[in-house]
Amino acid sequence: MNNLLALNPITSFVFFLVLHHLAIAISKPAYNPTDSILTNCGSSGDTPAPDGRIWTGDQKSKFGPIEQSSSKSLSASALSQGGSVQYVPYMTARISQSQFTYTFPVTAGQKFIRLHFYSVSYQGGFNRFKDFFDVKAGPFTLLSNFSASFYAEARDTYSFIKEFCFNVAENQQLNLTFSPSLSKYAFINGIEIISMPSNLYYTPPEEGSGLISIGKKEKFFIQNDTALENMCRFNVAGGTISPVLDTGMYRLWRDDVLNLGLVNNEPNLSLNYSKIPNYTAPDEVYLSARQLGLNDTNLTWRVPVDQGFRYLVRLHFCEFVPDITKVNERRFDIFIDNQTATLGFDVIESSGGHGTPTYNDYIVTAGKKVGKADDDL
Ligand SMILES: *[C@@H]1O[C@H](CO)[C@@H](O)[C@H](O)[C@H]1NC(C)=O
Ligand SMILES: *[C@@H]1O[C@H](CO)[C@@H](O)[C@H](O)[C@H]1NC(C)=O
Ligand SMILES: *[C@@H]1O[C@H](CO)[C@@H](O)[C@H](O)[C@H]1NC(C)=O
Ligand SMILES: *[C@@H]1O[C@H](CO)[C@@H](O)[C@H](O)[C@H]1NC(C)=O
Ligand SMILES: *[C@@H]1O[C@H](CO)[C@@H](O)[C@H](O)[C@H]1NC(C)=O
Ligand SMILES: *[C@@H]1O[C@H](CO)[C@@H](O)[C@H](O)[C@H]1NC(C)=O
Ligand SMILES: *[C@@H]1O[C@H](CO)[C@@H](O)[C@H](O)[C@H]1NC(C)=O
Ligand SMILES: *[C@@H]1O[C@H](CO)[C@@H](O)[C@H](O)[C@H]1NC(C)=O
Ligand SMILES: *[C@@H]1O[C@H](CO)[C@@H](O)[C@H](O)[C@H]1NC(C)=O
Repeated sequence: MNNLLALNPITSFVFFLVLHHLAIAISKPAYNPTDSILTNCGSSGDTPAPDGRIWTGDQKSKFGPIEQSSSKSLSASALSQGGSVQYVPYMTARISQSQFTYTFPVTAGQKFIRLHFYSVSYQGGFNRFKDFFDVKAGPFTLLSNFSASFYAEARDTYSFIKEFCFNVAENQQLNLTFSPSLSKYAFINGIEIISMPSNLYYTPPEEGSGLISIGKKEKFFIQNDTALENMCRFNVAGGTISPVLDTGMYRLWRDDVLNLGLVNNEPNLSLNYSKIPNYTAPDEVYLSARQLGLNDTNLTWRVPVDQGFRYLVRLHFCEFVPDITKVNERRFDIFIDNQTATLGFDVIESSGGHGTPTYNDYIVTAGKKVGKADDDL
Protein backbone atom coordinates (compact mmCIF):
# COMPACT_ATOMS: atom_id res chain seq x y z
CA MET A 1 0.00 0.00 0.00
CA ASN A 2 2.60 2.49 -0.94
CA ASN A 3 1.46 3.84 -4.24
CA LEU A 4 -1.12 6.32 -5.16
CA LEU A 5 -3.92 6.06 -7.62
CA ALA A 6 -5.58 9.31 -8.48
CA LEU A 7 -9.12 9.19 -9.67
CA ASN A 8 -9.05 12.34 -11.71
CA PRO A 9 -12.56 12.89 -12.81
CA ILE A 10 -14.47 15.70 -14.16
CA THR A 11 -14.43 18.91 -16.03
CA SER A 12 -17.92 19.54 -15.05
CA PHE A 13 -20.21 17.62 -12.65
CA VAL A 14 -21.83 14.71 -10.86
CA PHE A 15 -20.33 11.77 -9.21
CA PHE A 16 -21.52 9.05 -7.06
CA LEU A 17 -23.37 9.67 -3.84
CA VAL A 18 -24.67 9.85 -0.19
CA LEU A 19 -27.00 9.26 2.60
CA HIS A 20 -28.75 10.15 5.75
CA HIS A 21 -29.62 7.23 7.91
CA LEU A 22 -32.34 8.78 9.90
CA ALA A 23 -35.61 8.08 8.21
CA ILE A 24 -34.88 4.65 6.86
CA ALA A 25 -37.83 2.39 7.35
CA ILE A 26 -37.15 -1.29 7.76
CA SER A 27 -37.70 -2.57 4.28
CA LYS A 28 -36.88 -5.69 2.36
CA PRO A 29 -33.45 -5.40 0.77
CA ALA A 30 -33.21 -5.68 -3.03
CA TYR A 31 -31.09 -8.83 -2.80
CA ASN A 32 -31.46 -11.85 -0.57
CA PRO A 33 -28.26 -13.94 -0.40
CA THR A 34 -28.57 -17.72 -0.78
CA ASP A 35 -25.61 -18.28 1.51
CA SER A 36 -25.13 -16.18 4.59
CA ILE A 37 -22.64 -17.55 7.10
CA LEU A 38 -21.30 -15.61 10.09
CA THR A 39 -18.73 -17.52 12.11
CA ASN A 40 -17.53 -16.13 15.41
CA CYS A 41 -14.15 -17.82 15.75
CA GLY A 42 -12.98 -19.01 19.16
CA SER A 43 -16.46 -18.71 20.58
CA SER A 44 -19.53 -20.83 21.19
CA GLY A 45 -23.25 -20.40 20.73
CA ASP A 46 -25.11 -17.67 18.89
CA THR A 47 -24.40 -14.04 19.74
CA PRO A 48 -25.71 -10.87 18.17
CA ALA A 49 -23.41 -8.10 16.99
CA PRO A 50 -24.52 -4.51 17.72
CA ASP A 51 -26.16 -4.32 14.28
CA GLY A 52 -28.40 -7.25 15.19
CA ARG A 53 -26.79 -9.87 12.95
CA ILE A 54 -26.27 -13.21 14.68
CA TRP A 55 -22.79 -14.77 14.72
CA THR A 56 -22.40 -18.49 15.40
CA GLY A 57 -19.43 -19.76 17.43
CA ASP A 58 -17.00 -22.22 15.87
CA GLN A 59 -16.63 -24.42 18.97
CA LYS A 60 -18.27 -27.76 18.14
CA SER A 61 -19.21 -26.26 14.79
CA LYS A 62 -20.02 -28.49 11.84
CA PHE A 63 -17.76 -26.28 9.70
CA GLY A 64 -14.59 -27.10 11.62
CA PRO A 65 -11.92 -26.15 12.20
CA ILE A 66 -9.99 -29.30 11.36
CA GLU A 67 -6.29 -29.55 12.08
CA GLN A 68 -3.94 -31.62 9.99
CA SER A 69 -1.30 -32.06 12.64
CA SER A 70 -1.82 -33.28 16.18
CA SER A 71 -1.45 -29.77 17.51
CA LYS A 72 -4.91 -28.36 17.93
CA SER A 73 -5.90 -24.78 17.30
CA LEU A 74 -7.10 -22.83 20.33
CA SER A 75 -9.97 -20.57 21.22
CA ALA A 76 -8.42 -17.47 22.75
CA SER A 77 -9.69 -14.22 24.15
CA ALA A 78 -8.15 -10.88 23.28
CA LEU A 79 -6.04 -9.50 26.11
CA SER A 80 -7.22 -5.95 25.58
CA GLN A 81 -10.27 -4.23 24.20
CA GLY A 82 -9.00 -1.06 22.59
CA GLY A 83 -10.92 1.83 21.13
CA SER A 84 -14.49 1.19 20.15
CA VAL A 85 -14.04 -2.34 18.88
CA GLN A 86 -17.25 -4.34 19.11
CA TYR A 87 -17.26 -7.47 21.22
CA VAL A 88 -18.70 -9.79 18.55
CA PRO A 89 -16.86 -11.15 16.62
CA TYR A 90 -13.64 -9.39 17.63
CA MET A 91 -12.92 -10.33 21.25
CA THR A 92 -12.33 -14.03 20.57
CA ALA A 93 -10.12 -15.74 18.01
CA ARG A 94 -9.21 -19.11 16.58
CA ILE A 95 -5.46 -19.20 16.87
CA SER A 96 -2.70 -21.73 16.09
CA GLN A 97 0.91 -22.33 15.25
CA SER A 98 -0.21 -25.11 12.88
CA GLN A 99 -2.50 -25.18 9.91
CA PHE A 100 -6.28 -25.32 10.41
CA THR A 101 -9.14 -25.54 7.92
CA TYR A 102 -12.81 -24.67 7.93
CA THR A 103 -15.10 -26.41 5.47
CA PHE A 104 -18.22 -24.50 4.55
CA PRO A 105 -21.01 -26.17 2.59
CA VAL A 106 -21.97 -23.38 0.19
CA THR A 107 -23.94 -23.30 -3.03
CA ALA A 108 -22.19 -22.76 -6.36
CA GLY A 109 -21.79 -19.16 -7.45
CA GLN A 110 -19.98 -15.94 -6.74
CA LYS A 111 -19.50 -14.96 -3.09
CA PHE A 112 -18.08 -12.38 -0.80
CA ILE A 113 -15.79 -13.64 1.90
CA ARG A 114 -14.92 -11.20 4.66
CA LEU A 115 -12.17 -11.97 7.12
CA HIS A 116 -12.51 -10.00 10.35
CA PHE A 117 -9.36 -9.36 12.35
CA TYR A 118 -8.64 -7.79 15.71
CA SER A 119 -4.92 -7.38 16.05
CA VAL A 120 -3.90 -7.47 19.71
CA SER A 121 -2.14 -10.04 21.90
CA TYR A 122 -4.13 -13.14 22.81
CA GLN A 123 -4.33 -15.51 25.77
CA GLY A 124 -1.85 -18.37 25.65
CA GLY A 125 1.23 -16.30 24.91
CA PHE A 126 0.24 -15.17 21.42
CA ASN A 127 1.89 -11.78 21.22
CA ARG A 128 1.06 -9.08 18.73
CA PHE A 129 3.44 -8.85 15.74
CA LYS A 130 4.22 -12.58 15.84
CA ASP A 131 1.43 -13.48 13.44
CA PHE A 132 2.39 -14.31 9.84
CA PHE A 133 0.22 -16.61 7.77
CA ASP A 134 -1.37 -17.58 4.45
CA VAL A 135 -5.11 -17.84 3.87
CA LYS A 136 -6.42 -20.00 1.05
CA ALA A 137 -10.03 -20.30 -0.07
CA GLY A 138 -10.35 -23.31 -2.37
CA PRO A 139 -7.85 -22.70 -5.18
CA PHE A 140 -7.35 -19.01 -4.33
CA THR A 141 -4.59 -17.64 -2.13
CA LEU A 142 -6.28 -14.69 -0.48
CA LEU A 143 -3.43 -13.65 1.78
CA SER A 144 0.20 -14.64 1.66
CA ASN A 145 2.67 -14.31 4.54
CA PHE A 146 0.21 -11.80 5.91
CA SER A 147 0.55 -10.17 9.31
CA ALA A 148 -2.67 -8.73 10.64
CA SER A 149 -0.71 -6.81 13.29
CA PHE A 150 1.62 -5.07 10.88
CA TYR A 151 -1.27 -4.40 8.51
CA ALA A 152 -3.31 -2.83 11.31
CA GLU A 153 -0.35 -0.91 12.71
CA ALA A 154 0.34 0.68 9.33
CA ARG A 155 -3.26 1.93 9.29
CA ASP A 156 -3.26 3.08 12.89
CA THR A 157 -6.04 0.71 13.83
CA TYR A 158 -6.65 -2.62 15.53
CA SER A 159 -9.71 -4.11 13.89
CA PHE A 160 -10.26 -4.38 10.16
CA ILE A 161 -11.96 -6.46 7.49
CA LYS A 162 -10.39 -7.99 4.41
CA GLU A 163 -13.06 -8.50 1.74
CA PHE A 164 -12.71 -10.76 -1.29
CA CYS A 165 -14.94 -11.99 -4.11
CA PHE A 166 -14.53 -15.39 -5.68
CA ASN A 167 -16.53 -18.05 -7.45
CA VAL A 168 -17.38 -21.46 -6.05
CA ALA A 169 -17.84 -24.07 -8.78
CA GLU A 170 -20.62 -26.67 -8.86
CA ASN A 171 -20.49 -29.43 -6.21
CA GLN A 172 -17.64 -27.97 -4.19
CA GLN A 173 -17.35 -27.26 -0.54
CA LEU A 174 -15.43 -24.20 0.36
CA ASN A 175 -12.27 -25.03 2.27
CA LEU A 176 -10.75 -22.06 4.03
CA THR A 177 -7.24 -22.82 5.27
CA PHE A 178 -5.02 -20.79 7.59
CA SER A 179 -1.32 -21.71 7.46
CA PRO A 180 1.17 -19.98 9.75
CA SER A 181 4.67 -19.17 8.48
CA LEU A 182 7.52 -20.98 10.19
CA SER A 183 7.48 -20.44 14.00
CA LYS A 184 4.72 -17.83 13.70
CA TYR A 185 1.00 -18.16 14.35
CA ALA A 186 -2.23 -17.65 12.41
CA PHE A 187 -5.47 -16.29 13.82
CA ILE A 188 -8.92 -15.20 12.74
CA ASN A 189 -11.76 -13.53 14.65
CA GLY A 190 -14.69 -13.73 12.29
CA ILE A 191 -15.54 -15.23 8.91
CA GLU A 192 -18.40 -13.95 6.84
CA ILE A 193 -19.53 -15.62 3.62
CA ILE A 194 -22.33 -13.98 1.65
CA SER A 195 -23.59 -14.82 -1.84
CA MET A 196 -23.79 -12.09 -4.43
CA PRO A 197 -25.90 -11.80 -7.56
CA SER A 198 -24.26 -13.42 -10.59
CA ASN A 199 -21.95 -11.14 -12.47
CA LEU A 200 -22.30 -8.09 -10.27
CA TYR A 201 -18.53 -7.66 -10.59
CA TYR A 202 -17.62 -10.60 -12.82
CA THR A 203 -17.95 -10.22 -16.59
CA PRO A 204 -21.05 -11.97 -17.93
CA PRO A 205 -20.40 -14.60 -20.62
CA GLU A 206 -22.60 -12.82 -23.19
CA GLU A 207 -21.28 -11.68 -26.54
CA GLY A 208 -20.10 -8.08 -26.46
CA SER A 209 -19.35 -7.99 -22.74
CA GLY A 210 -15.94 -6.99 -21.43
CA LEU A 211 -14.53 -3.98 -19.66
CA ILE A 212 -12.61 -0.95 -20.85
CA SER A 213 -8.98 -1.43 -19.96
CA ILE A 214 -7.35 1.98 -19.68
CA GLY A 215 -4.43 2.47 -22.05
CA LYS A 216 -5.16 -0.79 -23.88
CA LYS A 217 -7.22 -1.61 -26.95
CA GLU A 218 -8.39 -5.03 -25.84
CA LYS A 219 -11.35 -5.49 -23.56
CA PHE A 220 -10.80 -7.11 -20.18
CA PHE A 221 -12.80 -9.98 -18.69
CA ILE A 222 -13.09 -10.75 -15.00
CA GLN A 223 -13.66 -14.46 -15.09
CA ASN A 224 -14.60 -17.07 -12.56
CA ASP A 225 -11.01 -18.19 -12.15
CA THR A 226 -10.12 -14.77 -10.70
CA ALA A 227 -10.53 -13.66 -7.10
CA LEU A 228 -10.96 -9.97 -6.33
CA GLU A 229 -9.93 -8.07 -3.23
CA ASN A 230 -11.83 -4.94 -2.28
CA MET A 231 -9.55 -1.96 -1.67
CA CYS A 232 -12.20 0.63 -0.87
CA ARG A 233 -15.82 1.48 -1.49
CA PHE A 234 -16.99 5.06 -1.08
CA ASN A 235 -20.28 6.78 -0.86
CA VAL A 236 -19.45 10.15 -2.33
CA ALA A 237 -20.38 13.30 -0.47
CA GLY A 238 -22.67 11.95 2.17
CA GLY A 239 -21.43 9.64 4.78
CA THR A 240 -20.92 6.04 5.70
CA ILE A 241 -23.59 3.51 4.82
CA SER A 242 -23.36 0.64 7.27
CA PRO A 243 -23.50 -2.97 6.07
CA VAL A 244 -27.08 -3.53 7.25
CA LEU A 245 -28.22 -0.65 5.05
CA ASP A 246 -26.65 -2.13 1.93
CA THR A 247 -28.84 -3.86 -0.66
CA GLY A 248 -28.53 -7.23 1.09
CA MET A 249 -24.83 -8.05 0.59
CA TYR A 250 -23.65 -6.27 3.75
CA ARG A 251 -21.09 -4.15 1.96
CA LEU A 252 -19.71 -1.17 3.85
CA TRP A 253 -19.81 2.13 1.93
CA ARG A 254 -17.44 4.57 3.57
CA ASP A 255 -17.65 8.31 3.64
CA ASP A 256 -15.34 9.66 0.93
CA VAL A 257 -14.03 12.27 3.40
CA LEU A 258 -13.31 14.75 0.62
CA ASN A 259 -13.67 18.40 1.39
CA LEU A 260 -13.98 19.49 -2.22
CA GLY A 261 -16.62 20.65 -4.63
CA LEU A 262 -20.25 21.22 -3.81
CA VAL A 263 -22.43 18.61 -2.17
CA ASN A 264 -25.78 18.02 -3.76
CA ASN A 265 -28.56 15.64 -2.81
CA GLU A 266 -32.14 14.83 -3.57
CA PRO A 267 -33.03 12.29 -0.89
CA ASN A 268 -36.69 11.94 -1.85
CA LEU A 269 -36.33 11.27 -5.54
CA SER A 270 -37.66 7.91 -6.61
CA LEU A 271 -35.08 6.17 -8.80
CA ASN A 272 -35.69 4.39 -12.08
CA TYR A 273 -33.67 1.16 -12.18
CA SER A 274 -34.14 0.53 -15.89
CA LYS A 275 -30.43 0.51 -16.73
CA ILE A 276 -28.88 -1.47 -13.86
CA PRO A 277 -30.37 -3.82 -11.22
CA ASN A 278 -31.64 -2.22 -8.01
CA TYR A 279 -29.25 -4.28 -5.86
CA THR A 280 -26.18 -2.64 -7.45
CA ALA A 281 -25.85 -0.06 -4.68
CA PRO A 282 -28.14 1.51 -2.06
CA ASP A 283 -30.38 4.32 -3.38
CA GLU A 284 -28.54 6.71 -1.08
CA VAL A 285 -25.39 6.19 -3.15
CA TYR A 286 -27.16 7.54 -6.21
CA LEU A 287 -29.05 10.33 -4.46
CA SER A 288 -26.15 12.48 -3.44
CA ALA A 289 -23.15 13.73 -5.35
CA ARG A 290 -20.21 16.02 -5.41
CA GLN A 291 -20.06 18.56 -8.21
CA LEU A 292 -17.59 21.20 -9.22
CA GLY A 293 -17.74 24.48 -7.37
CA LEU A 294 -17.49 27.70 -9.32
CA ASN A 295 -13.72 27.90 -8.99
CA ASP A 296 -12.93 24.19 -9.29
CA THR A 297 -11.23 22.73 -12.34
CA ASN A 298 -11.58 19.13 -11.21
CA LEU A 299 -12.45 16.85 -8.34
CA THR A 300 -9.85 14.24 -7.49
CA TRP A 301 -10.08 11.22 -5.22
CA ARG A 302 -6.84 9.61 -4.08
CA VAL A 303 -6.78 5.96 -3.17
CA PRO A 304 -3.75 3.99 -1.96
CA VAL A 305 -3.09 0.91 -4.06
CA ASP A 306 -0.32 -1.58 -4.70
CA GLN A 307 1.84 -0.86 -7.69
CA GLY A 308 1.67 -3.23 -10.62
CA PHE A 309 -1.70 -4.77 -9.71
CA ARG A 310 -4.82 -4.46 -11.82
CA TYR A 311 -7.81 -2.69 -10.36
CA LEU A 312 -11.46 -2.57 -11.24
CA VAL A 313 -12.69 0.99 -10.71
CA ARG A 314 -16.48 1.30 -10.67
CA LEU A 315 -17.93 4.81 -10.77
CA HIS A 316 -21.62 5.17 -9.92
CA PHE A 317 -23.65 7.99 -11.45
CA CYS A 318 -27.16 9.33 -11.37
CA GLU A 319 -28.30 12.71 -12.69
CA PHE A 320 -30.82 13.94 -10.13
CA VAL A 321 -30.48 17.73 -10.24
CA PRO A 322 -33.96 19.02 -11.13
CA ASP A 323 -32.87 21.40 -13.88
CA ILE A 324 -30.72 18.90 -15.73
CA THR A 325 -33.06 16.54 -17.51
CA LYS A 326 -31.79 16.22 -21.06
CA VAL A 327 -28.74 15.02 -22.95
CA ASN A 328 -26.05 17.65 -23.45
CA GLU A 329 -26.87 19.71 -20.38
CA ARG A 330 -23.84 18.41 -18.52
CA ARG A 331 -20.72 16.71 -19.84
CA PHE A 332 -17.39 16.01 -18.18
CA ASP A 333 -14.15 14.10 -18.62
CA ILE A 334 -12.94 11.23 -16.45
CA PHE A 335 -9.27 10.48 -15.86
CA ILE A 336 -7.94 7.61 -13.83
CA ASP A 337 -4.31 7.49 -12.74
CA ASN A 338 -3.70 10.47 -15.03
CA GLN A 339 -4.92 8.56 -18.07
CA THR A 340 -8.01 9.34 -20.09
CA ALA A 341 -10.87 7.05 -19.09
CA THR A 342 -13.86 8.74 -20.78
CA LEU A 343 -14.11 12.13 -22.47
CA GLY A 344 -17.35 14.07 -22.66
CA PHE A 345 -19.30 11.76 -20.39
CA ASP A 346 -23.01 12.58 -20.16
CA VAL A 347 -24.86 10.74 -17.38
CA ILE A 348 -28.31 11.11 -18.95
CA GLU A 349 -27.09 9.94 -22.32
CA SER A 350 -25.50 6.90 -20.72
CA SER A 351 -28.24 5.97 -18.26
CA GLY A 352 -31.23 6.79 -20.44
CA GLY A 353 -32.84 9.37 -18.20
CA HIS A 354 -33.05 11.66 -15.22
CA GLY A 355 -33.12 9.75 -11.92
CA THR A 356 -31.76 6.63 -13.62
CA PRO A 357 -28.69 5.12 -11.93
CA THR A 358 -25.83 3.72 -13.95
CA TYR A 359 -22.17 2.90 -13.47
CA ASN A 360 -18.95 2.78 -15.49
CA ASP A 361 -16.32 0.11 -14.96
CA TYR A 362 -12.67 0.54 -15.81
CA ILE A 363 -9.67 -1.74 -15.48
CA VAL A 364 -6.48 0.09 -14.61
CA THR A 365 -3.01 -1.19 -13.88
CA ALA A 366 -1.62 0.88 -11.05
CA GLY A 367 1.17 2.98 -12.46
CA LYS A 368 4.88 2.98 -12.09
CA LYS A 369 4.85 6.40 -10.46
CA VAL A 370 5.52 6.46 -6.74
CA GLY A 371 3.41 8.85 -4.72
CA LYS A 372 2.79 9.62 -1.10
CA ALA A 373 0.54 7.01 0.42
CA ASP A 374 -2.71 8.51 1.54
CA ASP A 375 -4.07 5.93 3.93
CA ASP A 376 -6.87 8.13 5.19
CA LEU A 377 -9.22 6.79 2.60
C1 LIG B 1 -35.79 -4.71 -6.96
O1 LIG B 1 -36.14 -5.15 -8.27
C2 LIG B 1 -36.84 -6.37 -8.27
C3 LIG B 1 -36.97 -6.88 -9.71
O2 LIG B 1 -37.04 -5.84 -10.61
C4 LIG B 1 -38.19 -6.18 -7.58
O3 LIG B 1 -38.92 -7.39 -7.57
C5 LIG B 1 -37.92 -5.74 -6.14
O4 LIG B 1 -39.14 -5.45 -5.49
C6 LIG B 1 -37.03 -4.51 -6.10
N1 LIG B 1 -36.65 -4.31 -4.70
C7 LIG B 1 -36.53 -3.12 -4.14
C8 LIG B 1 -36.15 -3.07 -2.71
O5 LIG B 1 -36.73 -2.12 -4.77
C1 LIG C 1 -19.32 -17.77 -13.64
O1 LIG C 1 -20.08 -18.36 -12.60
C2 LIG C 1 -21.39 -17.82 -12.51
C3 LIG C 1 -22.06 -18.41 -11.29
O2 LIG C 1 -21.36 -19.46 -10.75
C4 LIG C 1 -22.16 -18.12 -13.79
O3 LIG C 1 -23.44 -17.54 -13.71
C5 LIG C 1 -21.41 -17.51 -14.97
O4 LIG C 1 -22.05 -17.85 -16.17
C6 LIG C 1 -19.98 -17.99 -14.99
N1 LIG C 1 -19.26 -17.22 -15.98
C7 LIG C 1 -18.65 -17.80 -17.01
C8 LIG C 1 -17.96 -16.88 -17.98
O5 LIG C 1 -18.64 -18.99 -17.18
C1 LIG D 1 7.22 -13.09 5.71
O1 LIG D 1 7.39 -11.71 5.92
C2 LIG D 1 8.39 -11.41 6.90
C3 LIG D 1 8.36 -9.91 7.17
O2 LIG D 1 8.32 -9.19 5.99
C4 LIG D 1 9.74 -11.90 6.40
O3 LIG D 1 10.70 -11.63 7.37
C5 LIG D 1 9.64 -13.39 6.13
O4 LIG D 1 10.86 -13.86 5.56
C6 LIG D 1 8.51 -13.71 5.19
N1 LIG D 1 8.35 -15.16 5.12
C7 LIG D 1 8.14 -15.79 3.97
C8 LIG D 1 7.95 -17.27 4.06
O5 LIG D 1 8.09 -15.22 2.91
C1 LIG E 1 -11.95 -29.81 1.79
O1 LIG E 1 -11.40 -30.39 2.94
C2 LIG E 1 -11.95 -31.67 3.23
C3 LIG E 1 -11.43 -32.11 4.59
O2 LIG E 1 -10.05 -31.89 4.69
C4 LIG E 1 -11.56 -32.62 2.11
O3 LIG E 1 -12.12 -33.88 2.35
C5 LIG E 1 -12.13 -32.08 0.79
O4 LIG E 1 -11.70 -32.87 -0.28
C6 LIG E 1 -11.67 -30.65 0.56
N1 LIG E 1 -12.42 -30.11 -0.56
C7 LIG E 1 -11.85 -29.43 -1.55
C8 LIG E 1 -12.76 -28.92 -2.63
O5 LIG E 1 -10.64 -29.18 -1.57
C1 LIG F 1 -38.08 14.45 2.02
O1 LIG F 1 -39.23 13.87 2.61
C2 LIG F 1 -39.28 14.00 4.00
C3 LIG F 1 -40.46 13.18 4.53
O2 LIG F 1 -41.53 13.25 3.63
C4 LIG F 1 -39.40 15.48 4.36
O3 LIG F 1 -39.45 15.64 5.75
C5 LIG F 1 -38.17 16.20 3.81
O4 LIG F 1 -38.27 17.58 4.02
C6 LIG F 1 -38.00 15.93 2.33
N1 LIG F 1 -36.70 16.44 1.93
C7 LIG F 1 -36.52 17.15 0.83
C8 LIG F 1 -35.14 17.63 0.58
O5 LIG F 1 -37.42 17.40 0.06
C1 LIG G 1 -13.86 32.18 -6.83
O1 LIG G 1 -12.72 32.96 -7.11
C2 LIG G 1 -12.99 34.35 -7.09
C3 LIG G 1 -11.76 35.07 -7.59
O2 LIG G 1 -10.59 34.56 -6.96
C4 LIG G 1 -13.38 34.77 -5.66
O3 LIG G 1 -13.67 36.14 -5.62
C5 LIG G 1 -14.64 33.99 -5.28
O4 LIG G 1 -14.94 34.24 -3.92
C6 LIG G 1 -14.41 32.49 -5.45
N1 LIG G 1 -15.66 31.80 -5.24
C7 LIG G 1 -15.77 30.75 -4.48
C8 LIG G 1 -17.12 30.14 -4.38
O5 LIG G 1 -14.83 30.29 -3.88
C1 LIG H 1 -7.22 19.81 -9.96
O1 LIG H 1 -7.60 20.75 -8.98
C2 LIG H 1 -6.61 20.98 -8.01
C3 LIG H 1 -7.19 21.87 -6.93
O2 LIG H 1 -7.98 22.86 -7.47
C4 LIG H 1 -5.40 21.63 -8.70
O3 LIG H 1 -4.39 21.86 -7.76
C5 LIG H 1 -4.89 20.68 -9.77
O4 LIG H 1 -3.86 21.26 -10.50
C6 LIG H 1 -6.00 20.29 -10.73
N1 LIG H 1 -5.51 19.21 -11.58
C7 LIG H 1 -5.73 19.20 -12.90
C8 LIG H 1 -5.17 18.02 -13.66
O5 LIG H 1 -6.37 20.07 -13.47
C1 LIG I 1 -0.71 13.90 -13.42
O1 LIG I 1 -0.57 14.89 -14.43
C2 LIG I 1 -0.33 16.20 -13.93
C3 LIG I 1 -0.40 17.18 -15.06
O2 LIG I 1 0.10 16.62 -16.24
C4 LIG I 1 1.02 16.17 -13.21
O3 LIG I 1 1.29 17.45 -12.68
C5 LIG I 1 0.95 15.17 -12.07
O4 LIG I 1 2.21 15.07 -11.44
C6 LIG I 1 0.55 13.80 -12.60
N1 LIG I 1 0.29 12.94 -11.45
C7 LIG I 1 0.81 11.74 -11.35
C8 LIG I 1 0.44 10.96 -10.13
O5 LIG I 1 1.55 11.28 -12.20
C1 LIG J 1 -37.66 4.43 -16.57
O1 LIG J 1 -36.78 4.58 -17.67
C2 LIG J 1 -37.20 3.85 -18.82
C3 LIG J 1 -36.11 3.98 -19.87
O2 LIG J 1 -35.73 5.30 -20.03
C4 LIG J 1 -38.54 4.41 -19.31
O3 LIG J 1 -38.98 3.66 -20.44
C5 LIG J 1 -39.56 4.29 -18.18
O4 LIG J 1 -40.76 4.90 -18.56
C6 LIG J 1 -39.04 4.97 -16.91
N1 LIG J 1 -39.94 4.66 -15.81
C7 LIG J 1 -40.47 5.61 -15.06
C8 LIG J 1 -41.35 5.16 -13.95
O5 LIG J 1 -40.23 6.79 -15.26
